[in-house]
Amino acid sequence: MKKKLLRGGLAVALVLAPAFAAADKIDDAIAYRKAVMEAQKWNLGRMAAMVKGTVAYDKAAFVRYAQWLDELSRMPWEAFPKGSDVGDTKARADIWNKPAQFSDKAKALETESAKLVEVARSEDMGKIRFQFGQTAQTCKACHKAFKDR
Ligand code: HEC
Repeated sequence: MKKKLLRGGLAVALVLAPAFAAADKIDDAIAYRKAVMEAQKWNLGRMAAMVKGTVAYDKAAFVRYAQWLDELSRMPWEAFPKGSDVGDTKARADIWNKPAQFSDKAKALETESAKLVEVARSEDMGKIRFQFGQTAQTCKACHKAFKDR
């Protein structure tokens, strides 16, 4: 009888174990993508200050921020596994209901931030300001469609 109970307990543990592991993975993915988003915000913010003129324009620094944003722009997307619209997250279920639209908006950021790196090297403030705006716009467009306020 005792043996049977023990075996039963083990079976329950084995059935539950993968569920716990999956929940951990989802929490990790949410934490990771939020951290990458925060890093994007940091780099965008440093560039914004130079575009607005509240911080003196520094070409080398601007190019570096643009390059980091460009790298970061490709990082969050793998951390949106199915089922990760629950937990400590503002991700909307539409991300998984309309994957093509989400991916288009992700691609838009990747494309515009890559252009920003090119333009940043030009030292043409008009072009830089324009391309900075195009890039920042892609953040807003995706948040409007796929992120809760
Ligand atoms: C393709 C869609 C998409 C793009 C593009 C995008 N984001 Fe996000 N962002 C999201 C989603 C979805 C969340 C919610 C993530 C969560 O809570 O799990 C988010 C969350 C955030 C957060 C909050 C993170 C936190 O700590 O809760 C910040 C800050 C952020 N994004 C900044 C940016 C910036 C800056 C850009 C552009 C450079 C950007 N995002 C581009 C989809 C996007």
